[in-house]
Amino acid sequence: MKTLRFALIGCGLMGREFASAAARWLHLTNLDVRPEIIAVCDTNPALMQWFQDRVPTVRFASSNYQDMLENPEIDAVYCAVPHNLHGQLYVDIIQAGKHLLGEKPFGIDAAANAQINAAIAANPHVLVRCSSEFPFFPAAQKIVQFVQEKRFGRILEVEAGFWHSSDLDANKPINWKRMVAINGEYGVMGDLGFHVTHLPSRFGWLPRDVRAVLSNVVTQRPDASGKLVPCETWDNASLLCAVEHNGYEFPMNLSMKRIAPSQTNTWFIRIYGTEFSAEFSTKYPKTLRTLPYSSGAAQAWHELDTGSESAYPSITGGIFEFGFSDAILQMWAAFCDEASGSTPKFQCATPSEAAFSHKLFTAALESQKNRRVVQL
Ligand SMILES: NC(=O)c1ccc[n+]([C@@H]2O[C@H](COP(=O)([O-])OP(=O)(O)OC[C@H]3O[C@@H](n4cnc5c(N)ncnc54)[C@H](O)[C@@H]3O)[C@@H](O)[C@H]2O)c1
Repeated sequence: MKTLRFALIGCGLMGREFASAAARWLHLTNLDVRPEIIAVCDTNPALMQWFQDRVPTVRFASSNYQDMLENPEIDAVYCAVPHNLHGQLYVDIIQAGKHLLGEKPFGIDAAANAQINAAIAANPHVLVRCSSEFPFFPAAQKIVQFVQEKRFGRILEVEAGFWHSSDLDANKPINWKRMVAINGEYGVMGDLGFHVTHLPSRFGWLPRDVRAVLSNVVTQRPDASGKLVPCETWDNASLLCAVEHNGYEFPMNLSMKRIAPSQTNTWFIRIYGTEFSAEFSTKYPKTLRTLPYSSGAAQAWHELDTGSESAYPSITGGIFEFGFSDAILQMWAAFCDEASGSTPKFQCATPSEAAFSHKLFTAALESQKNRRVVQL
């Protein structure tokens, strides 16, 4: 069993998810590498203490991320910090020669993303991947398989989205994800968008143009003291794209919403084709819907209850349900597997896939501003 010694930079919501995944590594079978979190870094000491109290392998803690980069015992970094810090921190981590799983959107904007990509190009020995866990849901893995098998015939249309609902409450206090200076001009696209574009870009379905309609629904929110302050970021984004594929064109409708009534964390993908259609939504996390079609046959959806089987085998019985933290564990298995030199069973999102999302979101901002279709 090889050990990959990690520093965690950013001890917030996602940092804790990684600690939990690393702590239940025994869940995975037939994997000869494991992560060990030996160092934590956050500008808020109370958050580091949570890890020091609960993760026995943590031996280093610092509020200065440079200390993580200078530590020769650290092989790899998970960096889960606000978007305005991605550019500087990711570049420094890569230049320090540490493998990196970075969080989306992989740079606050296209310029920051380009800096990260330049650092990657200059350090090809470093493995750099972007966090994106939803494709590891078993039903999503089946859809990946269907695309690889070219089951769909001619693609008629693709819809993908990621929808949240809690911002419907106009009294929900503001946080950094609703501030342009920290979250970025992309608004909801920077926060939720990469989850939506990851699989389409993995499939090679890169839009040739986009018409975006972006909405800022709640323009003020209370701050911590209750005072109303501007809430400038886009809440919802609908991107209608034209995709050229195999000599024909099909529409792709990508949506990211912070205000989608009733949807708590709904990630979905639907692919309609002349010979086969398939859809999966985390709203029904074990349900895979498919519709095979041949000339003259009935057009009937089939529903399959998927079990727990994802890319990496685990101890969970095949019929048991799979959830968010299982997807996170699978993503970490894929990252550690690849960092240890193996070919991962499903590769984590790549920097070029993240770069493509920046191109699309930048075009979407221009489309909204000028109310026109923008070529990519
Ligand atoms: N993959 C997913 O499903 C998912 C879900 C939520 C968030 N995210 C992404 O994860 C990243 C972090 O989001 P979060 O929800 O965990 O945010 P968070 O606010 O909960 O955590 C961010 C942490 O970074 C710390 N921090 C700020 N400046 C720092 C610095 N200079 N050095 C070290 N630490 C610093 C903050 O104190 C905070 O604890 C973002 O890029 C976000 O888009 C991904």
